[in-house]
Order: sequence, then structure tokens, then C-alpha cells
Amino acid sequence: MIKKKRPANARTGPATCWPALLCLLALWLGWGWNGAQAQSLPLSSSGPASGVSLSSSSSSSPVPPSSGGGSLQVLHWWTSASERQAINVVVNQLAKQDIQWRDVAIPGGAGMGAAKVLKSMVLANRAPEVTQLNGVVFGEWADLGLLLELDNVAVQGAWEKQMFPTVWSLLNNHGHVVAAPLGIHRINSLFYNTAIFKRYNLSPPKTWDDFDQIVKKLQGSGITPLAQSAEAWQLATLFENLALAESGPAYYRRLFVEMSPAAYLDARMLHILKRLRGLSAAMAQPVRERPWTEVARSMVSGEAAMLIMGDWAKGELNAWGMEVDQQFGCAPVPGTGDFHLYSTDTLAMFAGNYAHQAVQETLARLTMSPAVQSEYNRIKGSIPVLRAADPHMDRCARDSWRAFSKGPAWQAPSLVHRMATDDTTKDAIVSEVQRFFLDRSISEEQTQKRLAAIARTLSRNRND
Ligand code: GAL
Repeated sequence: MIKKKRPANARTGPATCWPALLCLLALWLGWGWNGAQAQSLPLSSSGPASGVSLSSSSSSSPVPPSSGGGSLQVLHWWTSASERQAINVVVNQLAKQDIQWRDVAIPGGAGMGAAKVLKSMVLANRAPEVTQLNGVVFGEWADLGLLLELDNVAVQGAWEKQMFPTVWSLLNNHGHVVAAPLGIHRINSLFYNTAIFKRYNLSPPKTWDDFDQIVKKLQGSGITPLAQSAEAWQLATLFENLALAESGPAYYRRLFVEMSPAAYLDARMLHILKRLRGLSAAMAQPVRERPWTEVARSMVSGEAAMLIMGDWAKGELNAWGMEVDQQFGCAPVPGTGDFHLYSTDTLAMFAGNYAHQAVQETLARLTMSPAVQSEYNRIKGSIPVLRAADPHMDRCARDSWRAFSKGPAWQAPSLVHRMATDDTTKDAIVSEVQRFFLDRSISEEQTQKRLAAIARTLSRNRND
């Protein structure tokens, strides 16, 4: 039974623009936003990544017809070369149906900036029609009645049958589908420079002891073993990987999903923090704040040997003309080979103006078309959300698909990418981890206690 959509007069924000600062921000977003910070531009098949089209192999699966015509403002943080090329697969398909994608791109890896801009826009009653909104956070927006329910599209497209159960349950909020899925990223991915590995006779590290051996072998070579940025979310990427490597998905979930204070006070957390701090010996000093694209560049240029990053890095390296098992290789992060630390990319639709509903539903339908899933994810570095294996996947994608297909017991939802908990909790943990990493005067024990305190406070609030 499909529940009726919300009434067309449902509001998307406060009746008045309040407080004044937000009004100003809204005006700024509307009038003063420029290309240096974001682009609110129509993207079309002649846009920056024109030339991206569905390959002949995949275009044989037709994209479902739409109501045709209209435009959608889409807020997202896909600003790198591969990210833009990947979304242009969607943009071009929309253009074929005479629908214009109006781009609001907010730079900043992992959407740290985009999440803030989105909140401000919604509060200022200027919600975009569509937004990249990953993970459990869209449940919060849905609970406020702000998101369009996509139940009809999901039923017509047999989404539940076609997609991985984990993705399906993620999209559901109290029995209603509130987002459309694009792909699944693997965050426990380690990339390495194949020329360096060959020169020093190295193999991809399976354990953290193997990793330490590689660091030792590269000593005095002038090569940095691990490329790394000091941006909070990139440091927390190491942290969540180490947490998974330490004791598998069950302990990981106790930390980041259940927010159990006892799990933070466990000796394993002390070990994770020691390992995290120890990793700085493998990095170029001082560790600077750099965008992930720059860090990836330092690995393929030969400045550094390895990189730990979600597999969008693979998409980016491909966009720069480099291929898996040629210029670079991929492997699971040490100690996590059996597991899949995942993040899914999804689009949610704001329900404020029902004039856009037909076009929004067309976009949702399009994201699940096998042709779009295959081509988009091939460019993005991720894997399709469909259970049926895509024959076009490369080696890294096949490994990712195999690990994810094993089911929830082997999967761990990324904290950093909002799969595990709400934004407030995530931000508190991520900044605590960064503070610990950058300030050596803070001990592991102090950080452990602080993290447990965050868990205690925020998990209590959640139950209030
Ligand atoms: C993730 C997102 C990816 C990629 C990455 C780097 O949160 O899921 O699609 O954009 O951030 O910014």
C-alpha cells in the first residue's frame, strides 16, 4: 500500500525568513554566489564534461520515459574531474528528456561545506529541488516532512527486488522511500603506486605489520610511504578504517552506530588511537590540510607510495588517464580485506513545490536505470546499487562488489560519510580525532575519555 504524498501546501521552511543573518545568507546564496565558491549554473550536454555519454554497451538498456520538460536545481559536492564527468551521465540523460539540471556545486570533500549550505538554504526557505544527501541524515529531513516520498517510483521500478537490501533499508524512512540511489563507495580502499612497489619489490599490505614493513623499506628513499591530508574528514577516514581493522564490523557498530561509551573505553580504542598517531611517521611532515585530489596526485606522481581513500580516488585517477594495475593498484586497507566500509551516494528531493514533482520523479527513476548505474559508477569509481553484478566492473570494483554482496555482517557504515550516525555526533567525533592527531600534548587516554563522553552525551540526547 502506497501512502499518499504530502499535501501540496506542505511548507519547506519557516513562514518568515528568520533570523536576519539567515536572510542575508539566503540573499547571498541567491545573488552573490560566484564560481570560486559554487556554481549555480545550468549544466547541459554541452557543459564542462560534455562528451560523456552512455557507452554503446550500456545504452542498449533504455532509460524509462518521463513526463518531459522542466528544470531542477541540484545541490551537491561533486566538483573534481571524475565527479563532474560522472554526474554528467545523469545530466545528459535528463537533457534528453528536456530537463535542465541547474547546478549548485559546493566544493569540499565529503560534503563538509555542502551540509552547512544545505541547512542554511532550507532554513532560509530556499531549499533546492534536489540535493546530494548521504546516509542516515536524510531521515532527519524526512522526519520534518521536507522530503518527497518516492514510493510510486520505487514500486514501479521494483527497487526493493533489484537493489542490495542494505541500500534499500537506508533509503527507507518509516516505510517510505525518501531518496534515490546512485552508487556504493568502498572507503577501506588502499591505492598504491605500481612503479614504486615494483622498484622496491613490495606487495600490497594485508596486515598493519606488513604496512610497517613497507614503511621501513622506504626509509631513506625520499618517498613518503603514505599520502595524507590533515583535513578533519581525511584523518577520520584513517580512524574509521583502523577501528574496522581492529575488531571487525560488530565492534565498529558499537562505536559508531550504537555510540556505546563502554566501547570507547575498551582497550581496543587505545590501540586504535596509538596506531593512528603512529601512522604520522609514514607521512610527509608537517601534515598539511589538502583537498583529497591533491593527496591522490601526490601518490600517482611518485612523491608518496600509498593512499587510503574512498574509491572515488580510483575514478579520479582514471579521469587523469591512469588505469588500475597499470599506473596504480588497489587493495583493501590492511586488516579489512573481508569487510566493506561503505558509503552510498543518494539524491533526495525537497517536497516544497509540488510543481516539480513529476520532474523529480523522473530523476529518481533515471538513477536506477541499469544503463545509468553502470556508466555513472564506472566513471565515479563506485559500484552500482543493483544486486546483479555489472559485467563492466574493473578489478577493484569487482572486489568491492564481492565484499559488499556478503551482506550486513561484513559491512560497516562509514562514520565520516554519514552512514552511521547523525551529523552532530559525527562532527564531534571527527574534530576530536583531528585535534588528537595534530596536538601531541593530548594523550591517547584523554582522547579515549573525551570520545566516551561524546558518546554518553549524544546517545543520551538521542533517546530523550
Ligand atoms: C563522499 C561522496 C563521494 C565523493 C567524496 C569526496 O562523501 O560520497 O561521492 O564525492 O565524498 O568528496
